[in-house]
Amino acid sequence: MGAMARGAMTTVYTKAVKPTIFRIHPDRVHDDMITHGSWAQRITPAMAAAEALLRHEDPALVTEAYGLTLRNPLGLGAGLDKNVAIPGILQATGFGFLTFGSVTSRVCAGNPRPWFHRLPEHESLVVHVGLANGGVDAVAARLRDLAAEGNPRYTSLPFKLSIARTNDGCTGDVAEGVEDYLASVRALDGLSPLIELNISCPNTTVGEAFTEPEALDRLLAAVDEAAPSQRIVLKMPSDKTWERFRDLVDVALDHRVHGLTIANLRKDRDSVTMDPAIRGNLSGRPVRDLSTEIVRRTYLHAGDRLTLAGMGGVFDGRHAYDKITAGATLVELVSGLVFRGPAVVGTIARELVELARADGFARVQDAVGSRAEEPVDAAR
Ligand SMILES: Cc1cc2nc3c(=O)[nH]c(=O)nc-3n(C[C@H](O)[C@H](O)[C@H](O)COP(=O)(O)O)c2cc1C
Repeated sequence: MGAMARGAMTTVYTKAVKPTIFRIHPDRVHDDMITHGSWAQRITPAMAAAEALLRHEDPALVTEAYGLTLRNPLGLGAGLDKNVAIPGILQATGFGFLTFGSVTSRVCAGNPRPWFHRLPEHESLVVHVGLANGGVDAVAARLRDLAAEGNPRYTSLPFKLSIARTNDGCTGDVAEGVEDYLASVRALDGLSPLIELNISCPNTTVGEAFTEPEALDRLLAAVDEAAPSQRIVLKMPSDKTWERFRDLVDVALDHRVHGLTIANLRKDRDSVTMDPAIRGNLSGRPVRDLSTEIVRRTYLHAGDRLTLAGMGGVFDGRHAYDKITAGATLVELVSGLVFRGPAVVGTIARELVELARADGFARVQDAVGSRAEEPVDAAR
């Protein structure tokens, strides 16, 4: 029943909904999704019914990560719901966990609009948001309110809070940057099982100071000292050479970091044809093999000392399985939802079980790293 309903929904989404939505500017679609979703998620019976249709449940999907037991290894990645506006909607799509944010210590207006541009022929979004968000205090208050409401439809999934350095005119040196992250860490202490430090947002005026090993070391030493109750995950860049990337992994291994999310938007736009006047960095398909290859190398380098979440261009079960067999325990997506619609999560979950069983694994998690010795090849 679930598979049939998801198949029908995907057909309706790709043949009817997407062509209509894709005629509207993506900034407006994103804003409307947040506004309408905030209302729709209040209709809890409808959300429960949607979730029952969309999610795919199977004991083979249950995944242990970060000390949590997740119903499946699929997570929403950072960026779609920065201010925890629509957790009920996102939960209904059948994810195993969610990521909110990125949020910053100060309210942040982000870059001038437009923030998004679609490249349908490349299954990619050009993103130029620059970390617009309502600030960490508003998010902390929102989380406290949701917990007080006690509505399990809002809060029953494990989630990560992604925090970034504020992108405004008040940024200073590395010491100021460390303090800025710490202000967010303190504000969110105890409000989530996990914090993701986004060190790799490519579209800010302040740059990516913390993708330099020395600066990252200072940041992580300060976070170690602050000793938040949450486990710490780092959101990693996609554009470093392996040698530069490995240096960052080695810094992470020296600190209380539990995992890496690989990877952020792609800065190099040579793989796509687009108007050079459009500003921003690439999501979706152009990140797919690049991020899988970094997952693979990181897994071979760090083994099980770090829990890896692979993301970038995951639109179907094969894409997700490639990340898992390369070494990712978890798989996240953002663009997959935009290009394939809300049934994509359940569909990927079902396909993951089939792919793992075909390879002789009883559980999807048993397949983690099983092909890490094989270089990633686009034709796979
Ligand atoms: C609309 C949008 C907004 C994003 N905002 C953030 C963000 O705030 N923080 C972050 O760490 N990554 C952000 N990203 C990057 C994604 O989390 C992810 O790393 C990247 O898009 C590759 O995954 P995908 O192909 O599944 O989209 C954003 C991506 C998109 C498409």
